[in-house]
This record gives sequence, C-alpha cells and structure tokens, in this order.
Amino acid sequence: MIIQTFFLNGKTLTSTSSLFDRVGGITFFERLVDCFYEGVVGDPVLLVLYTEPTDLTKARQHLTWFLAQYWGGPMIFNENRGDPKLRMRHMPFHIGPLERDRWLVHMLTAVNELSQDDVIRTELTNYFVKAAEHLRNDTGLPISPSNYPR
Ligand code: HEM
Repeated sequence: MIIQTFFLNGKTLTSTSSLFDRVGGITFFERLVDCFYEGVVGDPVLLVLYTEPTDLTKARQHLTWFLAQYWGGPMIFNENRGDPKLRMRHMPFHIGPLERDRWLVHMLTAVNELSQDDVIRTELTNYFVKAAEHLRNDTGLPISPSNYPR
C-alpha cells in the first residue's frame, strides 16, 4: 500500500512506509527539535515570542509530539494537547516574514544536520517551508493591524 507520494528532481516518488518509521521513530524527532532549539535560544527575534523563554521544556515537548504524529507516529500530540489547529494556536504570536524566516533558518539547519538522506531531507524541507508560511499571521507591510508589536 502506498502511503506517501512526493517529488524529487522532477520525479514522482512513492513510499510504502511513513517517514516516522523511515527515520527510526521518535528519537529522530527529539534530536531534530533539540538541534532546532539550539538555534532558537540564541535568536532574540524568536525568543521574545515564547511565554517561558528561560524554560523551553514544554515548547520542545509539544513540537516533538506534533512532528512525530504528523509524520505517521503515535497520536501523542492529540492525546496530550488535543486537535493541533496550529494556525489558531499560533495567532497569539506575531509571525511576520522575519519571524517565519528565522524559524525556518533554525529548522532547516537542524534538518540538514540530522538527515543524510536526500528524499527525507526534501520531504521535511518542503513541509516546513509551506507550514511556516501558512502560520505567518502578519504581512510585514504597513497595512498590517497597528496593534502588532514591531
Ligand atoms: C512549520 C512550522 C511550525 C510548526 C510545525 C510549529 C509547531 C508548533 C507546535 C506543535 C507548538 C506547540 C503548540 C501547543 O502545544 O499548544 C508550537 C508553539 C509555538 N510556535 Fe510554532 N510551529 C511552526 C512555526 C512557527 C513559527 C514560524 C513561529 C514563529 C516564529 C512559531 C512560534 C511558536 C511559538 C512562539 C510557540 C509557543 C511556544 C510556547 O511558548 O510554549 N512556530 N509550534
């Protein structure tokens, strides 16, 4: 049974196992999130958005749960946090082009560091680029609502 289809170098590829299984399970996502947060803790643009910038334990855990579940692992995010509704959950945070891009820099650095496999790297990169843009809630233009911090 084909469970994933993706594109690489102009070709359509299919896979019969989830990315979660192909990367070896939860440990990969724990390491990815650790690596991502190494970048976040040194990034003042992102750090000010967090409710507890000095203790990112929960933020790390929630992102790990979500990614493992999204890529075909156990439904641990839903069990602990409920329906992801990520766009709604990100509304309290100002995410303009700058924040989106800083987030992506750290995540794609982590992806490149942890994944030697071209196909997996491409799948993750395509997803994160699209999802980060989807979560952007400010255009970055002067016509944006004036109550956003700048
Ligand atoms: C691919 C894109 C992204 C994914 C998959 C993602 C995923 C998540 C998840 C699962 C949570 C935890 C939600 C909860 O449990 O209530 C979260 C929280 C958060 N995200 Fe994202 N996110 C993404 C992009 C972004 C971007 C672009 C920003 C802004 C730069 C951002 C900033 C935050 C902040 C500030 C929190 C709250 C953390 C806290 O204070 O605990 N996220 N994100």
